[in-house]
Amino acid sequence: MLMEKYFNSLGENLLSIIKLLLLIYNKLLKFLYIGVKEVFMEYVYFEGKIVPEDEAKISVKTNSLHYGTAIFEGIRAYYDKDTDKMYGLFFKEHYQRLFQNMKVLNMEIEESIDELIEITKELVRKNNIKSDIYIRPLVYFSDLKISPKLIGYTAKITIYTYPLGDYIDINNGIKAKVSSWRRLNDNSIPPRLKVAGAYVNSAFAKTEALLNGADEAIVLNEKGFVSEGSAENLFIVRNGKLITPPVSDDILEGITRNAVKTIAEDLGYEVEERHIARTELYVADEVFFCGTGAQISPVVEIDHVKIGDGKPGDITKKIQEVYFNAVRGKIPKYRHWIIEI
Ligand SMILES: Cc1ncc(COP(=O)(O)O)c(C=O)c1O
Repeated sequence: MLMEKYFNSLGENLLSIIKLLLLIYNKLLKFLYIGVKEVFMEYVYFEGKIVPEDEAKISVKTNSLHYGTAIFEGIRAYYDKDTDKMYGLFFKEHYQRLFQNMKVLNMEIEESIDELIEITKELVRKNNIKSDIYIRPLVYFSDLKISPKLIGYTAKITIYTYPLGDYIDINNGIKAKVSSWRRLNDNSIPPRLKVAGAYVNSAFAKTEALLNGADEAIVLNEKGFVSEGSAENLFIVRNGKLITPPVSDDILEGITRNAVKTIAEDLGYEVEERHIARTELYVADEVFFCGTGAQISPVVEIDHVKIGDGKPGDITKKIQEVYFNAVRGKIPKYRHWIIEI
């Protein structure tokens, strides 16, 4: 009897101890989980606030999702190891272009350009990033209504960031293919706009290039002149002169394109904006793509034709060098291109 009582109370005590241990173990797991989640948490800007990514959700009924009427930007921030600092590149210019684009789509949002710059800086800081990143603001009609139109809807902006090294190769030179797809034109879907729907055209061209063993597409416009890549502007070099299609040749008015023009002119090269015929690509001394994502990417082969000696050209390399120093804050005269985050 006594023994039975003794064993019963021992059993109860053991059970309580196990329960207590399980509770501690559970709490510890929870604590660790939250801790780990905090460290790896990605924050995004959504509906006027910076929130954890998993809290930023839109409905499947969202109007712009169906009609491609979202306007977006692609911005970069670079990490400089020497100064241990993040530098935002052309923040103002990107948000200015976003606002120009929004104007064409009759979109208005609550945030101003200056506020968006501050929000973006805060977002990058909050995500605690120390690497080169891409920043993607997207403005969309958030109404849960059908009908492809640009009036009577409310526009909202969301912004997210993600680490991005080289979007396409910048060292060895890439292969390009002249696309069988023609570039959109200003009277259908204006290529001047970074509007989601226009990127169906880019997706067709890029996919065709990839399926044919090339790295990138070169797209001709309806007139048959060279316009640009799937997500980059294009320069050719002939006899020491840089040539790029004019803004009326169905291109996105690239911010990097402007930077390249400035660098080239500062290096003493002449830059001409004029139509480029397809075969000029093949006989050019050098060809390169440029863009926020692409940076400066030499093209060494087009449609199986070797460009120059089939290696990245000297002028391209010089421009690349200046560009990469400028984006990491190493060149005082281009310091105004970047902001410290
Ligand atoms: C179609 C297209 N052209 C050109 C560019 C290059 O523009 P930016 O230098 O402003 O990034 C991009 C990239 O955003 C693009 O999507």
